[in-house]
Amino acid sequence: KDISVIGIPFNGGQPREGVQGGPQKIIEHGLLEQLDTMGWKSTYQPNDDVNQLCPVSDPVVMNLKNPKYVSAVTNKVAQQVLESARSHDKFVLTLGGDHSIALATVSGIFGAYPDACLIWVDAHADINKPETTDSGNIHGCPLSFLTGISTNHPDFQWVKSVVKPERLTYIGLRDVDDGEKEILKELGIKAFSMHHVDKYGIGKVVEMALDAVNPNRDLPIHLSFDVDALDPSVAPSTGTPVRGGLTFREGHYICERLHETGLLVATDIVEVNPALEDEESAFRTVQVACSLARSCLGESLL
Ligand code: ARG
Ligand code: MN
Ligand code: MN
Ligand code: MN
Repeated sequence: KDISVIGIPFNGGQPREGVQGGPQKIIEHGLLEQLDTMGWKSTYQPNDDVNQLCPVSDPVVMNLKNPKYVSAVTNKVAQQVLESARSHDKFVLTLGGDHSIALATVSGIFGAYPDACLIWVDAHADINKPETTDSGNIHGCPLSFLTGISTNHPDFQWVKSVVKPERLTYIGLRDVDDGEKEILKELGIKAFSMHHVDKYGIGKVVEMALDAVNPNRDLPIHLSFDVDALDPSVAPSTGTPVRGGLTFREGHYICERLHETGLLVATDIVEVNPALEDEESAFRTVQVACSLARSCLGESLL
């Protein structure tokens, strides 16, 4: 059991300081020792130097903020994720950082596993195009590049459209922009909002999500878990909290069930911002990030 843990201490995809401190806090909390106890042999790449890629001048281009910085960091880390995933004998765990880093993680994982499916657990759909984003924050846009519906931004020409709409599904949505709702409809993406979690229960929702993107249960799975999918009472220290989210157990159930399929090859845990809210909130958020990771890697309750 080998695992490559990759820290991506990056905040250029959104305006709030602090999310770049997520990976270090998660490591300081003891994640690598916890994985070691579970029998995982880990290597850790902290990427502490990504801020050196910040250009002197990075004006808005086609509505997007910090396009050159986000592009440079994610392009570089995409190569690193691809290297780690290439041999197929290692789990890849990436720690954010804001969700723009999915440009790196999904590009790298799908480079190594072209037939993979992507399960995006989030309050948000993160599929704005440069033309539809109100905020200009690239952490709200990665999936428009990765699915190939945005192809004309000069700084993201390197991003390949690796995710087919039928291989992408969501769990936990509750703050989706109008333009994104249009996109989800047009592309026919199967999305499970908190309404569906309430209606069917999390067990059924995860099976429906798997049926949508992995009907024969034979494709590799990449899980991208934004901690703001969890209710703010469970994960308070995050940049764009939205009330009415997943409970502690619902979040963990998703991870446990995906581990149980035997098909999970990669997980991102993103948007942990230890600088937000009070110290106890930050501790709670870091702690839940660690336990989600352990659930993805087979920690069992019995
Ligand atoms: N939809 C909003 C936007 O595009 C919020 C995105 C929040 N994304 C995130 N990864 N937390 O700005
Ligand atoms: Mn997100
Ligand atoms: Mn989110
Ligand atoms: Mn919104």
